[in-house]
Amino acid sequence: MLDQLEQLATAARTELDRLASGDALDDWQRRTIGRNGQITGMLRRVGELPKEERPQFGQRANQLKKELEAAFEAKAEAIKAAELEQNMAAGALDVTLPGRPVNRGRLHPSTQTLRRIYQIWADMGFQVYRSRDVETDEMNFQLLNFPPHHPAREMQDTFYTTNPDVLLRTHTSPGQVRVMREYFPEPIRVILPGMCYRHEQITARSEIQFHQVEGLAVGKGIRFSDLKGTLINFAHRLYGAGRPTRFRASHFPFTEPSAEMDVQCFLCDGKGCRMCKYAGWLEILGCGMVHPTVLRNGGYDPEIYSGFAFGMGPERITILRHGIEDIRYFWGNDLRFLEQF
Ligand code: DAH
Repeated sequence: MLDQLEQLATAARTELDRLASGDALDDWQRRTIGRNGQITGMLRRVGELPKEERPQFGQRANQLKKELEAAFEAKAEAIKAAELEQNMAAGALDVTLPGRPVNRGRLHPSTQTLRRIYQIWADMGFQVYRSRDVETDEMNFQLLNFPPHHPAREMQDTFYTTNPDVLLRTHTSPGQVRVMREYFPEPIRVILPGMCYRHEQITARSEIQFHQVEGLAVGKGIRFSDLKGTLINFAHRLYGAGRPTRFRASHFPFTEPSAEMDVQCFLCDGKGCRMCKYAGWLEILGCGMVHPTVLRNGGYDPEIYSGFAFGMGPERITILRHGIEDIRYFWGNDLRFLEQF
């Protein structure tokens, strides 16, 4: 029986050395040194031996069991360490893999132009005043001196709501009256940027929505020379100092006198090119002295106060600056266009 015990122990030891997984190890433990294992079973059979052989057998069996238990613990540790190593290797991060590009957004070309315009006017002391997109017929037309059947109304085909007195503003000029009514009797120096809407055929040259930046200065003793000086200063900041400008007489119902301002074409320096349609000049804004009727509608007595106003189109400025051929690109959401800015 002692020989049998030695054989069992040797076999168990050999098997243990070859084990590679935690599950197999548990199984081995159950079959050998566990409560119902073979070695434990041999110990129980000690009573089958003659009395004088029992102490020696018992001692040897206990010794072997202890040795196997120690070997089991060592093996368990080793397997645990190996498994940990394997997990670490499997989850390792390869820092040499190529990265994926992150898409970066950019400012819309109109926003870029708007911000340049805000900056220039801020430098000259003009604050931004936000006026509403949805206006009344009264604000958009009547208080700006458009009589009910004035042909100029037809120049600005209008989006009406179901209420014919409520519409989408066709220009930023109605903000002039709102500012005056809010600021009276303070002097005014504001720009009014915002989206405008016109019920038009969408083509390469006209859109149903576009930005405008309106400007308004009201105070005592403001003259046409102030208008000219201020706008020339603006044009020089936007298009470069020394760029020639000119004013042409024009007509708007809400200004008197009215003018349009041109800058010399910055592509051909006035020689004539496709951009300026061989005129040598580019029109950049409308302007004029605030009409006495409009001043009165804003609450300012035209006998005491005067002012100038102007209106420009950021999309037009952007088109001229970058040679953009089709205004529909602005709201087309085509990244191939937008990514160029
Ligand atoms: N409201 C005009 C338009 O939409 C632009 C304009 C012209 C605004 C002259 C002004 C101005 O303030 O003085 O065409």
